[in-house]
Amino acid sequence: MPTERFTFPANFLWGTATAAHQVEGGNINSDFWVLEHVPGSPFVEPSGDACDQYHRYADDIAMLARLGFNTYRFSIEWARIEPEPGEFSRAALDHYRRVLACCHEHKITPVVTFHHFTSPRWVAGDGGWEEKKTAERFARYCERAAAHLGDLIGVACTINEANLGAYQYLLGAMPLKLDPSRLEWFAEAARRIGADPNRFAPYLMCDQMKARDTMLEAHRLAAAALKSSRGKFPVGICLALGDLQAMPGGEQRRDYIKAECQDIFYEAARGDDFIGVQTYTRDRIGPDGALPPEAGVETTLMGYEFWPEALEANIRQAAAIAKVPVIVTENGIGTDKDDRRIEYVRRALNGVARCIRDGIDVHGYCYWSLLDNFEWNSGYRPTFGLVAVDRETQARSLKPSAKWLGDIARAGAIDADLR
Ligand code: BGC
Repeated sequence: MPTERFTFPANFLWGTATAAHQVEGGNINSDFWVLEHVPGSPFVEPSGDACDQYHRYADDIAMLARLGFNTYRFSIEWARIEPEPGEFSRAALDHYRRVLACCHEHKITPVVTFHHFTSPRWVAGDGGWEEKKTAERFARYCERAAAHLGDLIGVACTINEANLGAYQYLLGAMPLKLDPSRLEWFAEAARRIGADPNRFAPYLMCDQMKARDTMLEAHRLAAAALKSSRGKFPVGICLALGDLQAMPGGEQRRDYIKAECQDIFYEAARGDDFIGVQTYTRDRIGPDGALPPEAGVETTLMGYEFWPEALEANIRQAAAIAKVPVIVTENGIGTDKDDRRIEYVRRALNGVARCIRDGIDVHGYCYWSLLDNFEWNSGYRPTFGLVAVDRETQARSLKPSAKWLGDIARAGAIDADLR
């Protein structure tokens, strides 16, 4: 394969990504914590101490910098910052100020996500993401958080994968809230937080088309609040983008899914400073919805097809429709074979290079994830990290891919196949 040296733009963001609930540990005031602990839960295990990053952030950020990265994308936790309606925790905000300051000490640009799936219990129990007023509440929290942290934020993402629920639903997944085998679990979780089960609507579990509309409104209000806050950081939204590929007879269905949970968000992103592209694989669409992986194609620990080229397709599509710069806010692979991780990222980065070569404004690439962390319903089994975490001692150990990608980040260049 002929390659040539490709140099990325000088201020390209080379990072890794995590989310509060997946790495911090002890996120006990969040809706997901309750859902994890009630019998009958679809979560194979609770998040528990996660990677204890709430206490170990300084070591993790130093490690990231030593490896060669210049960016860290992480989320701040609404459930800690606003534990009760209108009650803001100065201590929690100060904690995140220290995390941000630590990034700056190590010359790491902090990319801060304000919502990454989890919400405070009180939000989820009072209409949650099915309810428009959650959009206003979210914007108020963003405004308060940015007033405290804004001068240290490098880049802000309002919501992580604001289209994911709708996307999964249109691919054929039933919202957990409506799954007959989960009704008791869900009602008990609502009871434990003192909510009426009908008003309990955690993101990704609730009526997904209602949640989609709340998410769109929440982004609009939050972006406005962040733009008028202290600090001059770019603001955008992050989307879950499968590369939608129509199989014979699936064209209409593919177009419908694309319109309802990709295009509508691209259009919403038009006034933003960037769009966050998050891609893991392609999704094959038949006349009735998603099809299983194609026979013979390698699959990952998530059961996804090994399809690194999906990233290039989605960067091109997002840039063409949203017409704003792109940051790859997540791309990665759950695998226990680190050489397959390197191959996946190598091919994905080749695609990023081709996009830049063609004049698309791509500002950064964040690998998901820095650490082997809490992979939601799948618990700690699928390992996405560049860095392994000992579940007993929390000791971190670098995988070869950490050094490999860190070296690329430091050089800002790859030997690329640009055809
Ligand atoms: C999410 C992450 C998740 C990752 C891997 C994305 O959908 O933003 O929280 O861990 O994919 O599944």
